[in-house]
Amino acid sequence: MGERFSSQFPAPVVIVGVATAKKKNIMTAAWVSTVSFDPPIVMVSISPRRYTHDLLLEAKEFTLSILTDQQRQLSTTAGVSSGRKSDKLKLDIFKTQEGKKVKAPLIMDSRAILECKLIKHFTVGDHTLFLGEVVNFTCDKSKSPLVLFNRKYYSLGDYLADYP
Ligand SMILES: Cc1cc2nc3c(=O)[nH]c(=O)nc-3n(C[C@H](O)[C@H](O)[C@H](O)COP(=O)(O)O)c2cc1C
Repeated sequence: MGERFSSQFPAPVVIVGVATAKKKNIMTAAWVSTVSFDPPIVMVSISPRRYTHDLLLEAKEFTLSILTDQQRQLSTTAGVSSGRKSDKLKLDIFKTQEGKKVKAPLIMDSRAILECKLIKHFTVGDHTLFLGEVVNFTCDKSKSPLVLFNRKYYSLGDYLADYP
């Protein structure tokens, strides 16, 4: 049941970056959203089974790189292998750099990058909801975001109208 309803939300595709004193990692996430404008807060839902999960609890900060429609290979690669077994950041396809306000790695050439400080986390069912305050934000409006829907990748469809 879970898989069928969750795949019906068109979702951004994001790479979560984390860095502790000893380890760095990246993973793909689509269960991510804005939560508050002021203060600016976002959420990402991460399974405790992910290597990223405990690193994030330790680091207490993270980045969200919103991928472009040219970066779907990054999504798949960061989303199928675990940093527990191999260092994804060593792969040539990932061009990363450290955040300005956090130590976590971010993905260069993304549509947008949010640097976040962890403010709260709680277990919700089989995932942990991480809430982060956005402490730095950059956006390249010339790039188009990657969209996940029904377990397939899309670029944005046609422009319809302005939001009122
Ligand atoms: C498109 C896509 C979206 C994903 N979204 C999430 C998500 O929102 N939350 C989550 O816990 N895992 C999600 N995953 C799965 C993790 O990215 C995957 O298990 C990854 O290998 C975990 O890496 P890690 O063990 O290095 O942390 C997604 C995977 C893909 C391909």
